Amino acid sequence: MKIAIGCDHAGFQLKEIIKAKLINEKFDVEDFGTFDEGSVDYPDYAFYVGKAITTNQCQRGILVCGTGIGIGIAANKIPGIRAALCHNVFSAQASREHNDANILTMGARIIDEKLALEIVEIWLKTEFAGGRHQSRIEKIRAIEDMMAVERAEELAEIYAEKGKTAKEKKIKTLTKSE
Ligand code: RB5
Repeated sequence: MKIAIGCDHAGFQLKEIIKAKLINEKFDVEDFGTFDEGSVDYPDYAFYVGKAITTNQCQRGILVCGTGIGIGIAANKIPGIRAALCHNVFSAQASREHNDANILTMGARIIDEKLALEIVEIWLKTEFAGGRHQSRIEKIRAIEDMMAVERAEELAEIYAEKGKTAKEKKIKTLTKSE
């Protein structure tokens, strides 16, 4: 299993600690940054890690920001991503068993290093329980598909008003920090 990791400036130190643990335990790790404590925007790193999962370059992801909230909200915008914010071992286990979470998010300003590493440990080794939970996951996917169709129609109208096709209009997704 290859693990994608990422963070913003607030999560940098904890991401480094998690990375060291994973490497020490012989996991295959891909680090998508950020690589220092300079101010960055968490959606960028959520996007890199999320895309690594949906393209199957990596099978699971771990994202850290100050609270774990923003980076998780951003990751969950990517169809196919089920990012779970976990600040205790029970949530980490349930997010795998019930929700088949493919990304774990944590807040470096909320939990200490010891608890974060325990959460990572249990989250990585817990399997999805399937069964009744499978159809619920499928419903999440159905919501994504429904909303994608609605959004595509909305965008098509917007572009048509501007006399542009979706392909001609470049949507800026990643920003540089000010
Ligand atoms: C950065 O200051 C902070 O807003 C970010 O790390 C995160 O907590 C956002 O949800």
